[in-house]
Amino acid sequence: MQEQLTIALSKGRILEETLPLLAAAGIEPAEDPEASRRLVIPSNRDGVQLVIVRATDVPTYVEHGGADLGVAGKDVLLEYGGQGLYEPLDLGIARCRLMVAGRPGSEVLRRPRVATKFVNIARRHFAAQGRQAELIKLYGSMELAPLVGLADLIVDLVDTGNTLRANGLEPLEPIADISSRLVVNKAAMKMKYRRIRPLLEGLRDAVAAAA
Ligand code: ATP
Ligand code: PRP
Repeated sequence: MQEQLTIALSKGRILEETLPLLAAAGIEPAEDPEASRRLVIPSNRDGVQLVIVRATDVPTYVEHGGADLGVAGKDVLLEYGGQGLYEPLDLGIARCRLMVAGRPGSEVLRRPRVATKFVNIARRHFAAQGRQAELIKLYGSMELAPLVGLADLIVDLVDTGNTLRANGLEPLEPIADISSRLVVNKAAMKMKYRRIRPLLEGLRDAVAAAA
């Protein structure tokens, strides 16, 4: 019997951009994960299955062995923190930037209120600058917070800048360049290396070909 390899992916942008890379590496889901209600999806490869989880849950599944591999945004990995995962490959997909943003001029406030779902990243960013900030945890639509007086600044992902512009906000300070990474469970990397290595090499080639 083939040893099972489980890959954690999240629906939406990451799934869309990861599937062509996986296909180039020889792995295709047996049914459309975007359309299916199933959370465990077999693949065309014997002993390789996909599990569909929330983007923010990918590191948790992979660190604790619920999946052997996964694909997660660097933003999610920075927020998750810790040394529990290998991160062997930058897939170069879902590229954007983590930024401090706000109304023009709001970066000069002495103790800004900062709304974000990335509270750990924001705390580290302001602390590294020796600035105090009051952090307000949100789960989405961060751009709304300065408009209704909930916060002075936000820390959020920016790609085209359209969402900021549409809400009268502007990017103020860059925090990090973001793309999605392949993450691997540390024990699986040792115990299942024979199966993981060709997948890793296939993905590396697919990323190079897409660049
Ligand atoms: P969750 O379901 O856990 O709330 P989410 O809604 O943030 O996750 P997506 O919007 O699909 O999930 O984003 C997944 C990843 O894609 C993010 O973690 C980030 O790395 C990247 N990403 C998010 N927004 C953009 C964007 N506008 N352009 C490019 N990449 C992005
Ligand atoms: C992401 C992010 C920003 C937006 C930035 O949201 O949270 O709001 O993209 O992209 P832009 O600079 O190109 O406008 P997403 O589109 O994923 O929607 P979400 O709020 O459902 O996560």
